[in-house]
Amino acid sequence: MLTITQQLTERLGKAIQKIQNSNIPEDYSATVTAATDTRFGDYQTNAAMALAKNLSMPPRELAAEIIKLLEVEDLCETPEIAGPGFINFRVKENTIVSRINEIRKCSRLGVENTHSPKKILIDFSSPNIAKPMHIGHIRSTIIGDCLVRVCRFLGHEVIADNHIGDWGTPIGQVIYGWKNHLDQEAFNEDPIKELLRLYQMIKEKFESDQEVNKACLEETVKLQSGDKESLELWNQFKDITMSGSQKIYDRLGIMFDTSLGESFYDSRLGPLVEDLLCNKIAKESDGAVCVFSNNELEPKNDPLLVKRDGNWIPVPCIIRKKDGGFNYATTDIATIDYRVNEIEAETILYVVDDRQSLHFRQLFEVARQRKINADLKHVSFGKILGDDRKPFKTREGSVPDLSTVLQEAVDRARKVVEEKSNNLSEEEKENVAEKIGIGAIKYAELSQSRVSDYVFSWDKMLSLQGNTAPYMINAFVRTRSIFRKLGNNLPEISEELSISADAERAIAIKLCQYGEIVPEILTDHRPNILATYLYELAQAFHSFYEQCPVLSTEGITKNTRLALCQTTSAVLQHGLGLLGIFPPEKM
Ligand code: ARG
Repeated sequence: MLTITQQLTERLGKAIQKIQNSNIPEDYSATVTAATDTRFGDYQTNAAMALAKNLSMPPRELAAEIIKLLEVEDLCETPEIAGPGFINFRVKENTIVSRINEIRKCSRLGVENTHSPKKILIDFSSPNIAKPMHIGHIRSTIIGDCLVRVCRFLGHEVIADNHIGDWGTPIGQVIYGWKNHLDQEAFNEDPIKELLRLYQMIKEKFESDQEVNKACLEETVKLQSGDKESLELWNQFKDITMSGSQKIYDRLGIMFDTSLGESFYDSRLGPLVEDLLCNKIAKESDGAVCVFSNNELEPKNDPLLVKRDGNWIPVPCIIRKKDGGFNYATTDIATIDYRVNEIEAETILYVVDDRQSLHFRQLFEVARQRKINADLKHVSFGKILGDDRKPFKTREGSVPDLSTVLQEAVDRARKVVEEKSNNLSEEEKENVAEKIGIGAIKYAELSQSRVSDYVFSWDKMLSLQGNTAPYMINAFVRTRSIFRKLGNNLPEISEELSISADAERAIAIKLCQYGEIVPEILTDHRPNILATYLYELAQAFHSFYEQCPVLSTEGITKNTRLALCQTTSAVLQHGLGLLGIFPPEKM
């Protein structure tokens, strides 16, 4: 089943072939996209503008030529030229109707499986031991989970990997803190809070106090060399941290396929470094082992070089420190080997904040030098800001703990529910508040462009108006209420549809585009493409709902409107599901 874009693209390709001009680049592929301004059409192409130079023709003239050659009468009205040379397509009613009927019959709602399924490993969430997950982890967790859902739905084989930070110096610091500064009572009351206190206290001393620094490093070495007591403590810290994280994952509905953690790779680090030395990928420098630039890349694209005072100087990737210890990069290199050779991942996505971008660029460069055969991508994201546009903090000035944030979202959603939904039972209200609260947090995240910082605003994310979870959920609930009203009297909805009112057409065209939008998310791993689409669909539905009575009409009009409501309902529910949001039936 071809999408409208695919059909138009095919026709456009044929028309351009007919031009038979050797100046058209061989690799040129015509593209048709949904119109940016729907007043002028439903779809558009910039083919004439893209080719005008090659053919030495003014773009508008070329557009007219292409239109003459286009055979699209069965799909759309005569295409029109706009602006500097765009060609606009306005789809005919019968094209929309047959596409809607295809979508209605299809459990995938018109979304095709990918033609090139891959084994994709997604590294996301990845909190650190002895620290509770904080608001900074939320972005990775929510974006990563959404990408897992989308990749899987499109037919890729996906491994969701929680790469827990459970090894290295921070653990040595907590062990030292535990041995010297534990407040047993505080620990009994709230273990994770006490571990965090120890970690923060020692981290500070670690920088300023030589003695503490040395003692912590000794603890780290002891742990890494398999000391029994250290391992026991480590296990205990790990259990405490992960049971806290698990509660959050359960509440968010997030699952992983594997969570080996950094510690899993420890025994591989020594041999790995030896191997890299042997293969001349790494070399000794000042007692440390490093990977340097091999000058194959242009310096400005080489993450192992930096420009200082007009000269390119090396910034090597250190894989064994002077003291013999390994670091974050070493573990990540070993992790790539395992994922590529043993799990056989073809693509690895790292959903990690943009402060780590140099680390990943260096890591990928090391992989390139080693000719690792996998597609590695850092799916990076910015910070969460407070209303003051500074990194989001609690009123007391600390970084908010994630479970508290989730609870606050649900408490606030409860207020929205109290105002809006007076005919729900207590139990229903609680359930709806949970879904709206968690949905609001996720939607606030996923509706943003992931690369930018975003302002965390309770009022905005819980508003019933605008691009928010409550607005989307409200649209879905409206679709459901229509069918609830019909109860057992739901007529059989036939394929005989007549799409005449503007509001009907607007929503129908949107529904036809679901199959075009979903694969696009993976082009640059941007969930907000889907969120924006769903928002536009919900808007189109709200106007349709206001302008087009459904239940009080008859005949083909009623049949059409019921079909549109049913399909909207299904697409909203499915699309929100890909975002990890599960709307209630009522609110
Ligand atoms: N644990 C790290 C942190 O909290 C994130 C790990 C990301 N994944 C990786 N393979 N480096 O900063």
